[in-house]
Amino acid sequence: MNRTLKWWQSCQVYQVYPKSFLDTTGSGTGDLNGITAKLDYLKTLGTGAVWLTPVYPSPMVDNGYDIADYEGIDPSYGTMADMERLIAEAKKRDIRIVMDLVFNHSSDQHPWFLQSKKDRTNPKADWYIWRDAKPDGSAPTNWRSIFGGSAWTWCEERQQYYLHTFAPQQPDLNWANPEVRQALYHAANFWLDKGVGGFRIDAIVYIKKPAFVDGQPDSTDGLVDIHAMTANTTGILDYLHEFKKNVFDGHDIFTVGEANGVPPEDLDKWVGEKGVFSMLFEFSHMDLQFPGGAEVWCHAKPWPLTALKKALSASQAATAENGWYPIFFENHDQPRCINHFMPEGADRTLAAKAMATVLLTLRGTPFIFEGQEIGMANVKWGSIECYNDISSHGQYKRALAEGHTEAMALDAVHKFSRDNARTPMQWSRSTHAGFTKGLPWLPVEHDRNWTVEVEAEDENSVLSYYRRLAKLRKGIEALTAGDYVELLPSDESIYAFRRTVGAEATVTIVNFTGEEVSYDDNLVKGMKLLTDSYPAAAQEDEEPGKLRPYEAVVYMTQEAEKTFSKEAECV
Ligand code: GLC
Repeated sequence: MNRTLKWWQSCQVYQVYPKSFLDTTGSGTGDLNGITAKLDYLKTLGTGAVWLTPVYPSPMVDNGYDIADYEGIDPSYGTMADMERLIAEAKKRDIRIVMDLVFNHSSDQHPWFLQSKKDRTNPKADWYIWRDAKPDGSAPTNWRSIFGGSAWTWCEERQQYYLHTFAPQQPDLNWANPEVRQALYHAANFWLDKGVGGFRIDAIVYIKKPAFVDGQPDSTDGLVDIHAMTANTTGILDYLHEFKKNVFDGHDIFTVGEANGVPPEDLDKWVGEKGVFSMLFEFSHMDLQFPGGAEVWCHAKPWPLTALKKALSASQAATAENGWYPIFFENHDQPRCINHFMPEGADRTLAAKAMATVLLTLRGTPFIFEGQEIGMANVKWGSIECYNDISSHGQYKRALAEGHTEAMALDAVHKFSRDNARTPMQWSRSTHAGFTKGLPWLPVEHDRNWTVEVEAEDENSVLSYYRRLAKLRKGIEALTAGDYVELLPSDESIYAFRRTVGAEATVTIVNFTGEEVSYDDNLVKGMKLLTDSYPAAAQEDEEPGKLRPYEAVVYMTQEAEKTFSKEAECV
């Protein structure tokens, strides 16, 4: 293994959901100047790159994932000058800004689509996926869009249907048309010229369309999940290699593709020397509750800890020699990790620290989603009307259509709504937790104990723990460059692994249950305790071979201790 790490392999990436990060104008939604104002804060978490979910002009049907201009800034976020200032201020702190490229689809308000839909002969007539109706007038195929309902919408002007993998306001671009591809590469290069440090590439597995044929219906609506029909179609990698050549090659950036459904065994075609991207977000460890693959929230099933460990170890194995792994337990589409991975009722601080320990000691680049570092938790609102997230509404409707009661449908929304991740960031003890001086676009948690201000004053808080782990990661080579070996693979309570580089090693051991558990203390024989998630006063009772409820410990060898400088600073 080549142990010389690139800049993006030895730092944390912090994901900002700009609408919910910090509002500097009183509008109730966050903005770019709010991000610039918090760069020093982000640095204390070892942040080397900030991934912004889309900030382009957008009607915001899907909160910016419906883009109306790939080379602009939405006025609600500020101006291009604000963006340039953010990039420059970040650079001063050795932080790169990473943009989200949403190239599978645009907004239906993008000038390209407005022109394309006019008639069948205009110069952009073929920029989207248009098809005639079936002889009976129905949609060309029975595919169900990811947000629910048919993936085809009728257009009066053209007397044809257009395809949308997501909402009707997000028409799919036609990658088979070389002009479309060039226009998209132009947009990406526009941002490289502005000095961005990389890209997260949205929903990329859908860009190559297969034959337009019906599938076997998978529900009472007679439709079939579009993902099952169109994801990772043969030939997709040809487009992606062209994309790489025209945009990524020759730049000191990283790229991470959102690639739901690419199995770990195929990763080498997507990442690394022969692949396209630096990293790939695959969801094998995130979707354990949907064993059939389709993310139907009301069908969620419980899963054992061994399933999570197996998924993580498979991804580690797949990227051990080739490519690199983006470690993540949260993003703007997922529930909060303490709710997702820990039992209901688990102590919030300990649960958050346990997840932090895994996140920051696994092999790969850790992605921290805003608020994860202060232990933000899921919300539970009283009715579906309270939810903003478009997919929550689609999933709710589907649950009712399948015969679930309103209470069951809402319960699934509570667990999986994307709004769980999108409530405003909790900064301080002030009104609306310091997020805005206006009215926040989504409600803010009432308990002010879960804020940056309060947690920064407490050495035992989740935030202080993240900061400590960031320093350890910087000071101990095994935690970045080390190999990964899973320990105790069949244990249903403990996740344990060893990271080794040369004679240096660390061992992470995390209790995922509310019970005291034990393990063979030979695992850490001759090693020294590096960190413990329990409060400082309780750490004296730490005992090799035993873990208290939700306790997370990391041990290191004497060699690691020798090279570890306690002064290691991440600021
Ligand atoms: C990705 C994004 C998600 C968005 C969808 C459509 O999955 O992460 O937020 O709704 O693509 O662009």
